[in-house]
Amino acid sequence: MLIIKNLTKRFKKSIAVDNISFVLKKGNIVGLLGPNGAGKSTTIKTIAGLLRANEGTIEIDGISNKSLKAKRLFSYIPELPELYDMLTVKEHLQFIAYAYDVKDWETKAQILFERYDLIDKQDKLANELSKGMKQKVSICCGLLPNPDLYLFDEPMIGLDPKAIRETKLIFQELKQQGKTVFISTHLLDTIENLCDRVLVMKTGNIIADGTVEELKTKLGEESSTSLEEIFLEVTKDE
Ligand SMILES: Nc1ncnc2c1ncn2[C@@H]1O[C@H](COP(=O)(O)OP(=O)(O)O)[C@@H](O)[C@H]1O
Ligand SMILES: [Mg+2]
Repeated sequence: MLIIKNLTKRFKKSIAVDNISFVLKKGNIVGLLGPNGAGKSTTIKTIAGLLRANEGTIEIDGISNKSLKAKRLFSYIPELPELYDMLTVKEHLQFIAYAYDVKDWETKAQILFERYDLIDKQDKLANELSKGMKQKVSICCGLLPNPDLYLFDEPMIGLDPKAIRETKLIFQELKQQGKTVFISTHLLDTIENLCDRVLVMKTGNIIADGTVEELKTKLGEESSTSLEEIFLEVTKDE
């Protein structure tokens, strides 16, 4: 579904993403883990076409991520929700529905509002919402067009426990529908039992790649080792 080859992204002289390559298979939930500043958001923004790669290629379902056609194949849900202050919650979904030609959008929007406790917020303007509510609206906007690939950057930040549970359920439902879900996070417990595979990033490089079980075996740890312990082990400074 997604093929990244030799991707490098520099900001002036500093390298944020340093020649990384990986492939995401259809129907997989893949976690992109790493400490702050590892290059997770830069990687995701470059895939989404919001940053220009210095080197490397990105293909989404066989087409370059730069083409307009590729942009219809994924949703990018940013770390910080970007909403329009003067649109209501419902109008955001309407806007997305028109842009992506979503059929029967009102029914679909109501189902999402129900799941995210936004039914009584749908006529509120975005600038009247709390940070967590904005994040929920941003997630709903990403889910509405029902694309094949989802790029979530730190989706759980700011969400309440119910919304976190709902989001995890949605990730599993997307997987069952054969969709591909890529989730960056530095919060390990939220994805430990969710991801088919984990990529660990540190200072722009992918330093580990595999299932949680594989990473445990590689480190020769007991199977009782938590993802957090693995994470601290692989990302520790020598
Ligand atoms: N717009 C930018 N301009 C300059 N440096 C940036 C910019 N965005 C990110 N960086 C740098 O790139 C590195 C990776 O950042 P980022 O991808 O946001 O990491 P993460 O999402 O893993 O926390 C950091 O060193 C950060 O300071
Ligand atoms: Mg980030």
